[in-house]
Amino acid sequence: SALHDLTGRRVLISAGGTREPLDPVRFLGNRSSGKQGVALAQAALARGAHVTLVAANLEVPVPTSITTVMVSSALEMHEAMALAAESAEVIIMAAAVADYRPKTVQLGKIKKEDVGNTLTLELVKNPDILASLSAARRRGQLIIGFAAETETDADRLLTLGRAKISRKGCDYLVINRVGQGAGFGTERNTVTVLDRHGVIVNEASGSKVSVANCILDLIG
Ligand code: C5P
Repeated sequence: SALHDLTGRRVLISAGGTREPLDPVRFLGNRSSGKQGVALAQAALARGAHVTLVAANLEVPVPTSITTVMVSSALEMHEAMALAAESAEVIIMAAAVADYRPKTVQLGKIKKEDVGNTLTLELVKNPDILASLSAARRRGQLIIGFAAETETDADRLLTLGRAKISRKGCDYLVINRVGQGAGFGTERNTVTVLDRHGVIVNEASGSKVSVANCILDLIG
């Protein structure tokens, strides 16, 4: 990938994993470290892009040269992404967003003395940020989504990915296997990229920065 081929392009990236509050001290979360999203931001910056990172609960530091908006929950990420999307040419949703959040957030700590032996949580669906950004797409805007899947069968993985990209309405879908030492929290990643027709346009395996550069090659 040629250096500075993204000069001046406005790229918006989400990274990390959302936390959905239960009470003042507890949340429902996921195992996303934010490494792939931060690697995308670094690689895009190195190629000359104007990068905004919307970061949720990262386990890795963000270079101070990257404009970062810190969020925590899916609703906060939705608001930050919708606002930043207004001036973005490329949007990459690398964050792991909770599909559901607790219906109510207790003002005080949930106490086992009050609850007893069984605690039932009621969850409500979060907005699908990627689908809503795709539906509100501005002219010329390119939108890339991720699909973290535990499916091990390659054919079934592709079938899942094809259904997902048509549901989300984005231009490309980066499929990565997670679980059993792959994907979340690791240093390396293996991805398959589908276009909106469900055709494989790229496959990459390696460091998260090298995978990031393969993904950025799609927008060059
Ligand atoms: O449906 P699934 O969670 O597998 O989709 C993954 C893709 O959708 C990722 O790009 C993720 O950032 C995005 N997503 C989202 N809002 C949600 C759930 C997922 O933007 N509520």
